[in-house]
Amino acid sequence: MADSDVARGLEGITVAETRLSYIDGEEGQLVIGGFPLAELAGNATYEETVFLLFEDRLPDADELEAFRSDLAGRREIGEEVRAVLRQAAEEEKPAMDALRMGAAAANLGTGEEDPETDARRVIAVFPTIVATYWRYRQGEEPVEPREDLRHAANYLWMLNGEEPAEAEARGVETYLNTVVDHGLNASTFSARVVVSTESDVVSAATAAVGTLKGPLHGGAPGPVLQDLQAVYESGDPEGYVQEKLDAGERIMGFGHRVYRVRDPRAAVLSEAAEQFYSDGGDAEFFEAAERYEEVAVEALEEHKPDRRLETNVEFYTAALLHGVGIPRELFTATFGISRSGGWMAHSLEQLEDNRLIRPTSNYVGERDRSWTPVAQR
Ligand code: COA
Repeated sequence: MADSDVARGLEGITVAETRLSYIDGEEGQLVIGGFPLAELAGNATYEETVFLLFEDRLPDADELEAFRSDLAGRREIGEEVRAVLRQAAEEEKPAMDALRMGAAAANLGTGEEDPETDARRVIAVFPTIVATYWRYRQGEEPVEPREDLRHAANYLWMLNGEEPAEAEARGVETYLNTVVDHGLNASTFSARVVVSTESDVVSAATAAVGTLKGPLHGGAPGPVLQDLQAVYESGDPEGYVQEKLDAGERIMGFGHRVYRVRDPRAAVLSEAAEQFYSDGGDAEFFEAAERYEEVAVEALEEHKPDRRLETNVEFYTAALLHGVGIPRELFTATFGISRSGGWMAHSLEQLEDNRLIRPTSNYVGERDRSWTPVAQR
């Protein structure tokens, strides 16, 4: 294969069939389990969304309660995992490192080995891992999970030690539904590669957390919030964006590998954020974010006229999560809490009709070196 034939970044290469989510990058459409995102995100509980991904249909009321309480019963972590998270917090490791460490230990003490129960455990335990780490980071003791609360509300409960207001829980739940699955994104691909070797779903989740950590994938919303706060304070989004572009920096929260229009998740999250902020939040902060979006899209159009760089999911993730009180340091880990549902559904889907994922590379190194003993080099 000639060098020019290498599909760098695997762009445009199709390597799996999935019934989980459909993306139209030209039209800006996202369908999850057959539902347009806008219909699913604000209506479903996170448990319903995960059931939909696993079973390809919505549960009835009894099935939903059984699924919810099964997940709720898998939330607790043992003292040995707490000790690792405490240490990670003491060393001020990023939350994604703590989540990776906790994810790797997800099947410790569970005594179960079938992929479906391990998948449920991964999803159930992620919020506990993140919240436990965060409590230690704040110098506080962890808060035990509550089985009577929904996934989203329980996450806020474990972070804050207070039962959240319904608006906050709903804001988090809309977010969790919105980013749960997104085609063959890099971390989902990682998960599928891992299980394609007939490894296990906990290993898949661990690899996926590592993949999500990077700023080109899930690491952008923290920096977006810093940008939002900076322009809110300075009141000069134009100057701020121009300075970044002049310095050769990327504007976080814009551009996407697949979308050439505004990310449909941005619309859902901006609506959820607007609702949240207008209902007793800092409405001026939200208005400043909207203004910054306008300015940045315009500046990026001038900067790269031949590549449409529109708002991606991370932009309003930052605004919404900040509004509902999730600390910036936990934005990417909260993304992981949601996406674990997609990772596990993709892992199970891969196992249904598995073929080892093993692409090829184009060798560009030397071919005819002859060995020189170390003393003669
Ligand atoms: N700000 C400024 N320039 C950008 C940009 C941004 N946010 N996103 C892309 N570009 C530019 C690149 O510099 C590149 O220019 P070049 O051809 O002169 O090198 C061109 O647009 C194409 O970018 P490329 O990196 O090839 O696109 P990609 O498909 O590999 O990357 C992202 C997609 C998301 C990684 C990229 O748009 C990005 O880095 N965005 C900012 C980070 C972010 O928001 N990540 C969250 C993604 S959901």
